[in-house]
Amino acid sequence: MKLNLAVLPGDGIGPEIVNVALNVTKAVCKKFGHELTYQEALVGAIAIEKTGNPYPQETHDLCMKSDAVLFGAIGDPKYDNNPAAKVRPEQGLLKMRKDLGLYANIRPVATFPSLLHKSPLRAELVEGADFMCIRELTGGLYFGRPQGRAEDGNTAYDTCIYTREEVERILHLSYKFARQRNKKVTIVDKANVLATSRLWRQIGQEIAPQYPDVETEFMFVDNAAMRIIQWPKSFDVMVTENLFGDILTDEASVITGSLGMLPSASIGIHTSVFEPIHGSYPQAAGKDIANPLATVLSAALMFEYAFDLQEEGKLIRDAVTASMEAGVVTEDIACGGKAYKTSEVGEWLVKFVG
Ligand code: IPM
Ligand code: MG
Repeated sequence: MKLNLAVLPGDGIGPEIVNVALNVTKAVCKKFGHELTYQEALVGAIAIEKTGNPYPQETHDLCMKSDAVLFGAIGDPKYDNNPAAKVRPEQGLLKMRKDLGLYANIRPVATFPSLLHKSPLRAELVEGADFMCIRELTGGLYFGRPQGRAEDGNTAYDTCIYTREEVERILHLSYKFARQRNKKVTIVDKANVLATSRLWRQIGQEIAPQYPDVETEFMFVDNAAMRIIQWPKSFDVMVTENLFGDILTDEASVITGSLGMLPSASIGIHTSVFEPIHGSYPQAAGKDIANPLATVLSAALMFEYAFDLQEEGKLIRDAVTASMEAGVVTEDIACGGKAYKTSEVGEWLVKFVG
């Protein structure tokens, strides 16, 4: 099969971890006889520095003609500490989501036995937890207009908007995933207060009977935030709107013990983007110490979701599990044992695959 990728390393540790994921991808392609072509492009703070634009047209054109996008991270403290900055790396991310039509952000939350002791929750609560958050990514408060400040500067407003089409699209996707998993969908909203949430709930009630084999549960977002830490094992597929999803996926990600392990896929109308959920970790940039496994697992999702190459995805997952069992891991998850460099972990994974 021909695989044509756009590679967007971005900022901070992005280039190092994407390099590892790309090497693993190359090794998998070689092993299974796939023809891999790829091209790199700028995004984030580095793109602002070089072009003045955090998501240059050139990068967008490349993404549009690629089969999938492998993405590192964006963000630079320089911009975080300057609220007056006119252009920010995050704007590039939002523009990419909108322009590529990345409507569903999928974050699988799975625990690794060897990391249970790192979870902020008691091991018996998290052991075996395995669910998937599906966050709507191109609607809601992030994109609703009007947004701004009244002329006197003392009043500000955002607008939350959802259309039937947007809600139906993501709910159907959630049921499809649930059918391949444990057949339960939890639709998270705030229907006791918000009009958009009531639309979500109404559409959920209409769609649920079309999937009689899947259990549907409705839950208010405040209750969901509580349940994620009280009983994470009760979830299978959780689906929610953009801002709720932003918050809940951060919460869900830490219960596994390491942010450095969690991949994500953003399913798009045109092309899909695969990226680790951790950020650009600027303090570690260039030190060869960042954990590359979330990005490597994102490459596994890429094989599975973008190319429907299940065996290839599984080989990558097996490699990651084996590296953890062998203790060939970076300092953030090296419990007492020797800590390996990012590049050393990468070399080990490539050898395992090959
Ligand atoms: C995320 C991030 C982004 C978001 C930021 C960087 C704009 O927090 O991908 O979850 O809020 O969507
Ligand atoms: Mg977030």
